[in-house]
Amino acid sequence: MINIAVMGYGTVGSGVVEVVNTNGPRINQRIGEELNIKYVLDLRDFPGDPVQEKIVHDFETIVNDKDIQIVVEVMGGIEPAYTFVKRCLQAGKSVATSNKALVAKHGAELLSIAKDNNINFLFEASVGGGIPIIRPLNSSLTADEIEEITGILNGTTNYMLSKMFYEGADYDTVLKEAQANGYAERNPEADVEGYDACRKIAILSSLISGQQVDFEDIYCEGITEITVEDMKYAKAIGATIKLLASSKRVGDRLHAIVAPCMLYPDHPLYNVNDVFNAIFVHGNVLGDAMFYGSGAGKLPTASAVVADVVDAAKHLNRNIMTMWKQEKLTLEDKGDAKRRFFIRMKGDADKELPNLKYSFGDIEIIKIPGLNDEFGFTTPVMMEGDYDTRANRYKGQILHMIRIEG
Ligand code: HSE
Repeated sequence: MINIAVMGYGTVGSGVVEVVNTNGPRINQRIGEELNIKYVLDLRDFPGDPVQEKIVHDFETIVNDKDIQIVVEVMGGIEPAYTFVKRCLQAGKSVATSNKALVAKHGAELLSIAKDNNINFLFEASVGGGIPIIRPLNSSLTADEIEEITGILNGTTNYMLSKMFYEGADYDTVLKEAQANGYAERNPEADVEGYDACRKIAILSSLISGQQVDFEDIYCEGITEITVEDMKYAKAIGATIKLLASSKRVGDRLHAIVAPCMLYPDHPLYNVNDVFNAIFVHGNVLGDAMFYGSGAGKLPTASAVVADVVDAAKHLNRNIMTMWKQEKLTLEDKGDAKRRFFIRMKGDADKELPNLKYSFGDIEIIKIPGLNDEFGFTTPVMMEGDYDTRANRYKGQILHMIRIEG
């Protein structure tokens, strides 16, 4: 029998218990032994819930129990998760976690402790919810130099942007829906400001580079400034708006960014809607690959956590994860990235056109019926640093800039 403990009985923790209860026989068959949830750690009690008989309030019960071979950490946040996970690994227990904040900040150290102890620190659920992406990067795509990962990595904002784009829904209503569906973080700022996607692309960037990529070093812009008017302009040029998290190789460095972007229908992420996530990967020998699926929510995330438990159970005394060094990777300057830009500007397009052409080159003007005293335009490809310099001349007039991807 493989005994495990689940730390945290919130959305994902209760999902883990549900997945094990629902698919127990199949999971046991895959492990080759019976999987038993011995403890569930939570500050609260759950009277009337069958889980109550497994509830413990003291972490020491788990870390000191030699029967516990694998621990699931689904508490979220850095502390006490970091201390608990580190102590579990040091005590020789493999850990499976969905905690992206923990992995982004301490992944390198925790992987190294797991390696030293011949056990595993697994975190498939920390990126892309139920979509396999960590395991493919760790085991299936190891022949490649990964040159690009661009993903829709946050279910909440993708749900919101899809509803705003296709149904004209307003921002506050769709945010409340995402929260009610269990997609959003406890503090939804983490979703809408892009921090969640930023931590996830930092994890993926660390994995593909083998070095520490700090999420604080990644330029991060959320969706809080995206309006119904922006959506109208996007539609007018045949595009949509998605929050993209991207990491592209430039020599030995990576250019990483999180920002809302306009995408055209020929982009592989254009049709990824609602709470779905997708990750586009380009390898130097593989070419293109796409990973698509349920990116947030109780059961998809729990599915990935339990799959890690199965993997840990099958490799009880063998470390299987790729390492990333604690040595920090210097990221490419944001100003050096080349792309097109969409700009919304106050004023009269016909009057401004000569000046704008002089500043930005061969632009295309977009006018939206009903939106008076403003217009939009798209620029040719230029370096972001050059864009900033040119846009500086129109500071008071620019209402919004959105990057164009692809
Ligand atoms: N709040 C996250 C999201 C949960 O919306 O994607 C999954 O990490």
